[in-house]
Amino acid sequence: PEESRAVIIIFGGSGDLASRKLYPALFNLYRRGVLAEHFAVIGTARRPWSDEHYHEVVETAIAGLNPEPAQAHAFAQHFFYQSHDVTDADHYITLKNLAAKLDDQFATGGNRVFYMAMAPDFFETIASHLKSEHLLTDVGFNRLIIEKPFGHDYASAKELNDSLTATFADDQIFRIDHYLGKEMIQNLLAFRFDNTIFEGIWNKKYIDNIQITLAEAVGVEERAGYYEKAGALRDMVQNHVMQVLSYLTMDKPKSFTTNDILAEKDKVFAALKPYDLATAKANFVRAQYVGAEVDGKTVRGYREEEGVAPDSQTATFVAGKIMLDMPQWQGVPIYIRTGKRLTRKSTQLTLTFKPVAAPLFGQSADSKPDTLTIYIEPSEGYSLQLNGKALGTGLTIEPDELRYRHDPKAAAAAPEAYERLINNVLEGDQTNFTHWSELSASWHFIDAIQAAWSQEPNMPTYPAATMGPQAAFDLLSRDGREWFWQP
Ligand code: BG6
Repeated sequence: PEESRAVIIIFGGSGDLASRKLYPALFNLYRRGVLAEHFAVIGTARRPWSDEHYHEVVETAIAGLNPEPAQAHAFAQHFFYQSHDVTDADHYITLKNLAAKLDDQFATGGNRVFYMAMAPDFFETIASHLKSEHLLTDVGFNRLIIEKPFGHDYASAKELNDSLTATFADDQIFRIDHYLGKEMIQNLLAFRFDNTIFEGIWNKKYIDNIQITLAEAVGVEERAGYYEKAGALRDMVQNHVMQVLSYLTMDKPKSFTTNDILAEKDKVFAALKPYDLATAKANFVRAQYVGAEVDGKTVRGYREEEGVAPDSQTATFVAGKIMLDMPQWQGVPIYIRTGKRLTRKSTQLTLTFKPVAAPLFGQSADSKPDTLTIYIEPSEGYSLQLNGKALGTGLTIEPDELRYRHDPKAAAAAPEAYERLINNVLEGDQTNFTHWSELSASWHFIDAIQAAWSQEPNMPTYPAATMGPQAAFDLLSRDGREWFWQP
């Protein structure tokens, strides 16, 4: 790999995301030689840490990767800590001087990456100070990485975007959706567009429905402060589900370049059939988990979690039906569901094909529609369920499965999402990031559902460790369908 040069400034350097994801990702890039001599990281946050303490934090954060001690130590020497109050203009001058000094020391060519990995309340303040205190350099590149949540609704997302674009050009802004960094999400384009057998049948003529499941077994964990305001619709659907949906349904891009891929994705986002209050209620369901006994242990309900209001109205589960106003997808429902404290962790996508128009063997009760399932996580692979003849003298149809899974060891050794995405930023490749047009379309869609829900006084519930409320099953059964995955 080619060596990258940059001073990387992380706002939120003492935070959970930095330790859990960013430092390990940077270390892996270092081990692979993408980062070598010519980089420095400035961690900033309120706490007054010394560089020595920061080095310990970084070394602890990467300990799980079993580094060579000498290499871990050498890596940590590239890290510098600057206590920083994001509202204080003077602090930006200090930061700017430190960055300039490190630029000299590590010969980083004036390249800067600004990484906003902290509470969203300060994104706009930071962006405006970066401009007013002239932290962007004239030589080299200046790139901004920004974490979710990107707004709370369309209006706040627009405001945030306006403030970022006042400082950064659009092609300098990298909005993270970590699903786009996942191996099997990136694989979707290869799988769809490099296989003759799928290209011709990936449309309404052959596909009956599409299902997208992003199930989590964990509860809200320590993130109630954020999650209470977000809920499953904003936390998972507005971003991850929408991105996955666009990869599943977009047309083949003219070429494998950022602009051509985005152009096709944009058509999907523009085709999301909007809901009004009544249709949103009919096509989207929400619920909140309540406590249950699971394997002899008591699992707390959402309202009993730390930091959650005892009368919280936050949904931890969403299921819905999405239609696309595109000729090739007319009439094909896309059923989506996601939630916390579901039966188990699994991200999987299923396409169910239409039944054979005139089956040679008559309508056999054993014949099932063909289905293709793409496993994103934790297992990674595909399976195709087909009809075949059962062994024996008669002619009985039975379902057979063609199954492929990546070797779990090899899959675990592949780069993690953050490693790929930070690498993309260093290369200046915007393909695997969220663009404003996508965000604005998906927020409009989401806002309508949120508005419908805010009129409903009662929050439906589901017991922890189940696949959500009955209404999520009814959503499909009223269409004469069912969820393919029913653990
Ligand atoms: C994040 C959400 O974006 O994605 C979390 O904020 C969620 O609530 C997480 O747990 C799920 O990501 P993954 O990669 O574990 O499927």
